Order: sequence, then structure tokens, then C-alpha cells
Amino acid sequence: MPDDFERMWSDLAPIGRSTESGGYFRQPFTGAERELDAWFREQATARGLRVETDEIGNVVAWWDAGSGAGVLTGSHLDSVLDGGAYDGPLGVVSALAAVDELRQRGFVPARPIGVSVFVEEEGSRFGLACLGSRLATGAVSWDVARELRDRDGRAFADVVAGGASTLLDGVGTFVELHVEQGRDLVDRGAAVGVASEIWPHGRYRFDFTGEANHAGATRMEDRADPMLAYATTALAADEQARLAGQRATFGRLEVAPNGTNAVPSRVTGWLDARCSSDDALAELVAEVTRHGTERASRDGTALSVTPESVSGAVAFSSDLAAAIAADHGDRDWPIIPTAAGHDAGILSAAGVPTAMLFVRNPTGVSHSPAESATVPDCHAGVTALADTLERLAG
Ligand code: GLV
Ligand code: MN
Ligand code: MN
Repeated sequence: MPDDFERMWSDLAPIGRSTESGGYFRQPFTGAERELDAWFREQATARGLRVETDEIGNVVAWWDAGSGAGVLTGSHLDSVLDGGAYDGPLGVVSALAAVDELRQRGFVPARPIGVSVFVEEEGSRFGLACLGSRLATGAVSWDVARELRDRDGRAFADVVAGGASTLLDGVGTFVELHVEQGRDLVDRGAAVGVASEIWPHGRYRFDFTGEANHAGATRMEDRADPMLAYATTALAADEQARLAGQRATFGRLEVAPNGTNAVPSRVTGWLDARCSSDDALAELVAEVTRHGTERASRDGTALSVTPESVSGAVAFSSDLAAAIAADHGDRDWPIIPTAAGHDAGILSAAGVPTAMLFVRNPTGVSHSPAESATVPDCHAGVTALADTLERLAG
């Protein structure tokens, strides 16, 4: 007997959890994340699903049934640093539970149903978001991906065999269930929603360079301190994003040599920017860069900006979203946009008809230990996903 939703959820709860914060550290190809990968394969095998993998670390477990293009559902098992329990795993556990529910209903699929786990969705280790699904769809080539490095300088090619992936051959549709990463469903009083679009977003490395010197002996007018242009840039990002109704964050910083009594020689900050259109994103990044460059030139320092992970706007099929959202008792499920990135966006951009289901998150908080979902809402999500799969694979 495979485990039910609650049992699966409680099995996963301790894996990669920090005893200090209660958050999760499930970075790709580390012990915790590999434990999750092994757990997934066991659960798939216990259900009699056929497990397929590629040389990148992506996994699909197939319920071989019917014929024709398959319906894929799933998400990811990696987390951001000190992340929540739900971002990723909820979609994987719900997919397995939805397969169980369909079997209990006696549903006979007219086409295969696959449960997927894509690696390095968060880009928390190698910096490129949705790395597994980008490789599987060909959105990024192995030649580019192999050179990506983690914070210790290890190349992606050192942790996976790599090469072309054929894992998505035979996939006709993709549905990803995900915890909502805002409060839209809370405000609407709905347990489940459907995605309309994903905002374009990107990560940009801002390298500020100056001259290391003594913090006491160097006169203020003799310094080339790159921290000042960084500080100006961080403030400009906040101000420009507010003015334009967009989002900008500096959440990661490296300082060299990082000593209290030295003017730094280099400050590297990573800008995460998200906007309602591709043009707005380009404008926001250009404006933030302009503020940083101006300040750097006043200080005798320099700024260079390198895009590391950029994802264009994604509009999910409105017909598919409307069909999935319609006819659920007294109300349709709300159709809402998101400014969070997902593998579903990568598959959609690759031409796979794709939909997303969101499960209400009472805190509205995500990428944090405070991320949450209630048990009844998780069950509503499983039923919604089973209904959706029945519709797509029936
Ligand atoms: C992934 O969750 C992202 O939006 O960065
Ligand atoms: Mn996610
Ligand atoms: Mn995430």
C-alpha cells in the first residue's frame, strides 16, 4: 500500500530542516535533496509507476496507460536557502496523491500520466532558476549549463553526468500544483486557484569594484569604496520599483575582503527584479544600473552588471485555464497571476500546453519558514489536481 498524503508529508518533514529556524536547506545534489530524490523513486515504485531519469537529475514516474501524448504533473523538491516546506514538495506529494485518488475513483486514463520532479528549480546552488526544466526543454544547452558554478566553485558538470535529455519526449500537457506565494487566494476566500500568467523576472549580478585600504588611516576623500555605489544602487532599486509598481530585491551580497577595519575592494550584490512586462523589466534594470554607475563614477569605483538568469513573460493558455477553473459547484476557481517563477513557465515557453493550480497559503509568506497551507486546503488541492488530470487524460 503506498503512503497517503499525510504519511508522505510527515515523512518529508524532517528532511533538510534546520533545528534553528525550522526552515529547509534542500540544495540540489546535497544529502537532503538526494534523500528526497530516493524517497520519490520509492513512492513511485510502490505505486507501480515506471521511473525514468535523465543525466541531469530530472525524474518522471509514468502511469503507463492508454496511448498518445502524456499528461505530466509535478514540481520540484529542492528549496531556497532556509525555505518553506511547501514550495515544490506540495506539487510532488499532491501529484502522487492525485494518482491514488484517480485509481480509487476507478479512473482509466486514455493517455499516460507522468509525475515529474525537476532539479534545481530555485537556482539556489548554480544560480540559474529552473535549470533542470531548461535543460530538459532545450531552453539552455548542456555546453552552457556544464560551466555553471556553485558558491564553492564546483561546476555543474562535476555533479551530474550531463548531456541531452529526452525525458519530455511524449509529453503533451503539463500541470504544476504549487503553494500560492502571496495572499490573493486568502483575500478571495478560495482554497484553490488557477494561474493566468507569470511575470517576467531576472537575476543580475552587480559587481562593484574599488580599492582596498585601511579603515582608519585612509582619509575619506582618498577612498574608492565600492560599498557606497552598492548602497546607492540598493536604495535606487527599492525606489524605482516602488515608483513603477514593480518588484526589486537585493537579497544576496558578497564583500571582499569582508573585514571590519578595511575599505572593501569589491562588493557583489545580486538584484532580483520582477515586472508586469518584458519592457518594464528591461527599463527597471537599466534605471537601477544608471543610478549605480553614476554613483560609482563619483567615487572613482566601477560597476559591471551581468544577467545570470532571465525569464520572459509567460501567458498560460487562457482556454486551458478557463476550462480547468470552470464548473466547481457554486463557484469557479479564481484565475490569478503570479510573480514567482516555475518550471511550468519553462515548459509553457517551450510550447507545451501548461496550467498551474495554486493552493491557498494563509500567511501569504514564501521562500521562508513561515510558508504554510492547511491540511484541508492541501486535500482540496489534491482533489483539484485529480479532477484536472481526469479532464486532461480522460
Ligand atoms: C522561484 O520560486 C522564484 O520565483 O525565484
Ligand atoms: Mn517552486
Ligand atoms: Mn521557490
